[in-house]
Amino acid sequence: MPEDAKNTKITFPKDFLWGASTSAHQVEGGNHNQWTEWELENATRLAKNAEKNYGKIPKWPQIKDQTQDPNNYVSGRGVEHYKRYKTDFELVTILNLNSYRFGVEWSRLEPQEGVWSEEAVAHYHGYIEELKKQGIEPVLNIWHWTFPVWFAQKGGFKNSSNIKYFERFVQKISDEYGHLLRYVITLNEPNVYASFGYQLGKWPPQEKNLLSTLRVYGNLVRAHKKTYQILKEHHPEMQVGIATQLANIQAKRPHNFLDTTATKLMRYGWNWWFLRRIRRQQDFIGFNYYFTDYYSGLFKRQNPKTPLSDMGWYMEPEGLYPLLIRAWAHYKKPIIVTENGVADSADEYRRWWIEESIVAMQRALSEGVKIKGYFYWSLLDNFEWSDGWWPKFGLVAVDREHGMKRTIRPSAKWFADKIKQLTANYKP
Ligand code: BGC
Repeated sequence: MPEDAKNTKITFPKDFLWGASTSAHQVEGGNHNQWTEWELENATRLAKNAEKNYGKIPKWPQIKDQTQDPNNYVSGRGVEHYKRYKTDFELVTILNLNSYRFGVEWSRLEPQEGVWSEEAVAHYHGYIEELKKQGIEPVLNIWHWTFPVWFAQKGGFKNSSNIKYFERFVQKISDEYGHLLRYVITLNEPNVYASFGYQLGKWPPQEKNLLSTLRVYGNLVRAHKKTYQILKEHHPEMQVGIATQLANIQAKRPHNFLDTTATKLMRYGWNWWFLRRIRRQQDFIGFNYYFTDYYSGLFKRQNPKTPLSDMGWYMEPEGLYPLLIRAWAHYKKPIIVTENGVADSADEYRRWWIEESIVAMQRALSEGVKIKGYFYWSLLDNFEWSDGWWPKFGLVAVDREHGMKRTIRPSAKWFADKIKQLTANYKP
């Protein structure tokens, strides 16, 4: 029996969501929000710092030119998903996926404080209806790090008094689209957002202040709770959760006191703190998985030198398994893997990554963990925030130089076949 086929016996639930993820800002094109302003202000600096930032990555010779070009750091036309969404959804179906996680762009919907854009409201109506028409389950993600410039000018999520604006936006989403949706994700990776924007100073608004970080983190807990309340009050059947980022954090030397203490603290602070605060306000546990990190001494990350993704990230896809086990043990709620993927322009690792992820889920399922869905990141190559355009995460490659041409990668074809195998028993 081929290695592939052996594990098809462990079945995924019938209504399992096989999906792919995107976020509005990373694919739409033509946005104007706090992040686009930051891109324009910082593109030259980022290009100048390319060697400092990426020089040590094994892929440096291949990415050198693009990373030193300021255009790399501007989202601009995106991959024109805003206007090409219908044909992009056809790709979802071609890949045998039955669901799609996407974002709505707050700055389009409410470009000025309290003023709703009818065009944008209608656009997302058409968008969600098109997904349904094509038989794809829409999973709407409300907030994925971008917001209108006016909201940024008021201090964004740093001020608790600004949460009311977010609530109003959520209410609008609920009124307009709530009846069309079974699954809604409130926030994407509050831990990553707070730490990159306010602690490490790498992303807008580039603060390096622990107090600000904690304030933002705390306010995002409040924003999530309010969102949950609003949505459930109007749509009690809706399944609402978050997409946090969980890392498989391990001690480099399992018997070393410093390593194990750092590991425990990191697991609690990075993985569980937020989820604990919102444990009563979520119908499923949603998490994104990319990283396995080995901690040594005083919070030093010491990962094996290989294998590395294009971005230089250490890859251990089977690290999904311990996270599924622990998330289930802590919360006893169904789990959705809301993002999981790898930057791999040559498509040398993606198939392996997906296969190991499926095995990790099968192992957890066989031990009684309830898993409701798996969303690959990403459907399309897209704008990777402060890294720009060079990292290629897509199941589908996009050639921005040649008419935004979409090409399905070989690993994606393999994934589509695998889904077919895994779901074959369901059909009469
Ligand atoms: C984010 C995505 C991002 C991906 C790859 C996640 O942290 O939600 O927006 O593109 O990781 O870095």
